[in-house]
Amino acid sequence: MAHNTLREQDLSSGLTSIRLVIVLAFVSFCIYRYVLKATKYRKETEFGEKNGCKPPTSVLAYKWPLALDVVKRGFRAGRQKKLLSLFTDYWGFLGSTVELTILGGTGYATMDPDNIEAVLSTRFEDFHLGPRNLAMSAMIGEGIFTQDGPAWKHSRELLRRQFVRMQYQNLEGFREHVENLVGSLSDSRGIIDLQPHFYRLTLNTTIAMILGQSVESFNHEMGDLFSNSFNKASLITATRVRLGDLYFLYAPRGFFAACKTVKSYTEQFVRDALQQDRDSMKSSDKYTFINDLYSEHHQDIRLVRDQVINVLIAGRDTTAATMSYAFRLLVRYPNVLKKLRSEVESVLGQDKDVTRAYIQRMPYLQMVLKETLRLYPPVPINTRFCKQATTLPLGGGPDGRSPILIRPGMPVAYSVYHMQRRKDIYGPDAGSFLPERWERSELADLKWGYLPFNGGPRLCLGKDFGLMLASYGIARIIQAFPKIELAPGEIWEEPGTERQHLTLTLSNADGCKVLLA
Ligand code: HEM
Repeated sequence: MAHNTLREQDLSSGLTSIRLVIVLAFVSFCIYRYVLKATKYRKETEFGEKNGCKPPTSVLAYKWPLALDVVKRGFRAGRQKKLLSLFTDYWGFLGSTVELTILGGTGYATMDPDNIEAVLSTRFEDFHLGPRNLAMSAMIGEGIFTQDGPAWKHSRELLRRQFVRMQYQNLEGFREHVENLVGSLSDSRGIIDLQPHFYRLTLNTTIAMILGQSVESFNHEMGDLFSNSFNKASLITATRVRLGDLYFLYAPRGFFAACKTVKSYTEQFVRDALQQDRDSMKSSDKYTFINDLYSEHHQDIRLVRDQVINVLIAGRDTTAATMSYAFRLLVRYPNVLKKLRSEVESVLGQDKDVTRAYIQRMPYLQMVLKETLRLYPPVPINTRFCKQATTLPLGGGPDGRSPILIRPGMPVAYSVYHMQRRKDIYGPDAGSFLPERWERSELADLKWGYLPFNGGPRLCLGKDFGLMLASYGIARIIQAFPKIELAPGEIWEEPGTERQHLTLTLSNADGCKVLLA
């Protein structure tokens, strides 16, 4: 009995020592981690001091723990389709570079051209896209839009070469699609919402451009199914991207099904295009984007499919939103439309074949587009994440003119939308639609103050494609319809006060209703 009790005592003291060792190991680990973190933090602070960094001038204040009041306000504004208006209010009293601590994470939001230049260009290597690839992968897999580092460089080089050689260069590739658009608008004259028409146009042209030919099997019904799935998947994906590391918490019903539809349709388009290419005797002397992509991706159809979806997501909504906002503004500013119409008529006359040379002879059209992209940059807000301790030139010290320290892991959100409406850059009339402002000499060299296509190494690859398609489409619609007016019942609103739909890109929440005759 006594023997047993002794063994139990031995056992229990043995267990106690094991527990003690585990607790000690855990505590040592925590101390080690803490010391490591504190040392890293101190080194980063020293780095900041050495580079003249000062504490942020402006810090977002909040009332509830974890800034839940700010989050709640954001969700409410999102539901009311007024998220960017809410941010406009914040910028108004906070200044142009702000430190934010939301849900326990600290980062910065900026609309300073110098800071944006640092993030996108001069300190490009210090930043990356962060969790964007994880949040987007269900829909768009791996491709240029989600990659960083060497994988992105490879995709960029591959696609850049293809964009240079693409067959839209003389704009003939746009003709069939723009004429289809004009035809379907003519069929339904009267009050028309132009927005869905533009989304169809940009989807069709982008697909045709990448695949090298129109997809014959891509009829209206299939187009709508693909389009709807594409819309649904990108809407949900945009919210997942905004949630950062917590993206997986948001996957409403139908999301994965929509992603699957987008992927399987695109895969089928790719297969059809490759087959048509093989069947075509012309393929030996005709360059096709898709064929090159296929051989460069080691004939892996899924990699090609993902790269195609990446280009589609970059190209479709951006250009459609630009065209839609352009008409939204034109019908609200009839004097601008009148001036543009007179330019289109004098340059094009009766000729329906819009060429690059014609577009170059329409400077007012170019100013209208430039002004539309100023007020409504299709990618209004974007984010980068810090890879290694770095600095931004502005936002610190009492006057905000000193650099600020950006620690690894911190997000830096930059708002092109708000920067391009700054009165100190564009003048007191910055909020108005005024294409003539682009004739002013003081706007001749804005550099990073105007940035609808991004800048630095990740500059948009489809800039010329998007601008040419939008110019072609707008000129042809104006030529085809002598009367384009604000639809009855539509109200005149100051740009920026209307309801907006914010996914990965910005669009009109209420479409673009016009009266066509
Ligand atoms: C008015 C039209 C357009 C605007 C305003 C626009 C704007 C942008 C912006 C802001 C980015 C940077 C996104 C980021 O880094 O987070 C971007 C990237 C990109 N855009 Fe565009 N875009 C337009 C049209 C197009 C079109 C038509 C295509 C293709 C057909 C296209 C292809 C791309 C690609 C491939 C990238 C990724 C570049 C990279 O990361 O290296 N874009 N675009």
